[in-house]
Amino acid sequence: MTSPNRVADFYAEYDRHPGDRVRLFAAIANHLDAVQVLYPGSYVDIAPSVWFETVVYADLDRRAAKFFANEDQVQVLVDAKRAAGGHADPIADISFHHLDYREQLPLEDESTDLLISLYAGFISEHCTRYLRIGGHLLVNPSHGDAAMASINPSYELSAVVTARSGDYAVRTDGLDGYLVPKKPQAITRERLLELGRGIAYTKSPFAYLFQRVA
Ligand SMILES: C[S@@+](CC[C@H](N)C(=O)[O-])C[C@H]1O[C@@H](n2cnc3c(N)ncnc32)[C@H](O)[C@@H]1O
Repeated sequence: MTSPNRVADFYAEYDRHPGDRVRLFAAIANHLDAVQVLYPGSYVDIAPSVWFETVVYADLDRRAAKFFANEDQVQVLVDAKRAAGGHADPIADISFHHLDYREQLPLEDESTDLLISLYAGFISEHCTRYLRIGGHLLVNPSHGDAAMASINPSYELSAVVTARSGDYAVRTDGLDGYLVPKKPQAITRERLLELGRGIAYTKSPFAYLFQRVA
């Protein structure tokens, strides 16, 4: 078992821009009601637990598994951040699964309010089943998953997340002006899988929120 200090140091090493992800998830939590959150490809990004009640993390990286195995210390890190953020309930429910998210996760279908897809592949392809209808997918564009969600009839764009000087804002105005490719092109699932990266759009928000509609 890793010592408490090494857990905190390891996290500090990952959290190169301290508070950045905490500010991101604060903006998301202000915008939508979500209790159950699923974060495949999380690595050690525990920031969602600062604002959301129950977060299920999953990653196949063994350093992430080792980090989350220190349950008490991870809980201490999160609870301190929750208390610092003025959260009424300092206790967060955290679980981690060391697995490939393309495999079956130990979760009920449609049990999740918010599915997180940040820099970790085509999560919407494999994990949308766990998201309830009406729930949201938070996805950034770099790895192609935002483009994938944009052509998936199960999703509708409901907001964009913009970043400025380390602050995040969730915007619902002018959504028609987003997801417009710079170069006219056919965007298909097969092409995105082949590319393995995002499409260049005329506007570049940090991330998108899609609502599951079917
Ligand atoms: C670039 S890191 C991003 C980590 C975190 N989402 C963030 O934004 O800081 C990508 C993570 O996704 C994980 N990952 C990629 N493909 C995966 C898969 N099929 N199943 C589980 N984890 C995966 C990797 O192990 C890695 O930890």
